[in-house]
Amino acid sequence: MKIAIANDHAAVALKNEIKQMLEEQGMEVINFGTDTNDSCDYPDFGSKCARAVANHEADYGIVICGTGIGISIACNKIKGIRCALCKDVTDARLTREHNDANILSMGARTTGPETAKDIVNTFLNTPFSEGANHKRRIAKIKDLES
Ligand code: RB5
Repeated sequence: MKIAIANDHAAVALKNEIKQMLEEQGMEVINFGTDTNDSCDYPDFGSKCARAVANHEADYGIVICGTGIGISIACNKIKGIRCALCKDVTDARLTREHNDANILSMGARTTGPETAKDIVNTFLNTPFSEGANHKRRIAKIKDLES
């Protein structure tokens, strides 16, 4: 599985922990940065991850900023992206099952590293339910893009 990852200055350490975990699991991680603690703007990095997922260069994306809010808003501006901010494993499971989310967003200042790793594993290992009701709603979200 190929995972695109991006973050702002608030989330370099957590990004590195998650990247290492995924690589130890044999996944390919495309890192869009940032990789320094210098203040930066999360849309610059989140959009790179979102474009990689939208263009099918990666299977899923993971984005992290201080709260996970700003970077998720930015990712959701890219056509084809369904980016979900998850604070626990239930959010992660349900957004895969119900929304077929293709990018996971988390907050490095609001979610601890162990919880974040559990969220990532749940997100990446939960399939979309394929339910007709959920497909219909996702189609309506897609209609909003045009
Ligand atoms: C950066 O200070 C902070 O605003 C950002 O990481 C994020 O929390 C925005 O939503």
